[in-house]
Amino acid sequence: MRPNLPAASLVVAVLGTVILAACTAREMPGPDEGAQVYDANCSVCHGASGKGDGALAGDLPSAPVDLTRIAARNGGTFPIAKTLSMIDGYARGAHDGRVMPEFGAVLGSDTVPVDVNGILTPTPRPLAALLEYLESIQQP
Ligand code: HEC
Repeated sequence: MRPNLPAASLVVAVLGTVILAACTAREMPGPDEGAQVYDANCSVCHGASGKGDGALAGDLPSAPVDLTRIAARNGGTFPIAKTLSMIDGYARGAHDGRVMPEFGAVLGSDTVPVDVNGILTPTPRPLAALLEYLESIQQP
């Protein structure tokens, strides 16, 4: 029997869309997911709104940065690579005197591809989510 081609391709097309949608949802975390990671790990210092007014802020030797102005401090562009290194501690030496803890080990798990200066870089999902969240709260 001749296969019913239009129907078969329709099934393939529909399945393809469903699979693509599932992959996209799984691979790319959005700002909402990042907000949860932020609340759990960062707000104690940087504050619920990211302005640097968390509960611990007053007790730290240096002030937690206002995270809503990362782009503004960088000439209006959100610096993905720099922010990523700051959070995961990758760019730091062991004794550079930073107050902020490193989160690379804490947040490491599944990776998703994040565009870092044009290169798709495998990045722990919670970190990628955090970046999305931080980018979404930038103010001019
Ligand atoms: C113990 C307090 C503390 C916690 C918790 C903390 N930070 Fe920080 N953060 C700081 C301080 C203090 C600085 C300023 C640099 C320094 O002295 O380390 C900073 C700097 C930064 C910067 C650099 C901003 C810039 O423009 O230079 C980023 C980005 C950042 N923090 C993001 C985060 C994220 C995201 C989290 C949660 C995963 C987090 N921080 C958790 C204290 C903290």
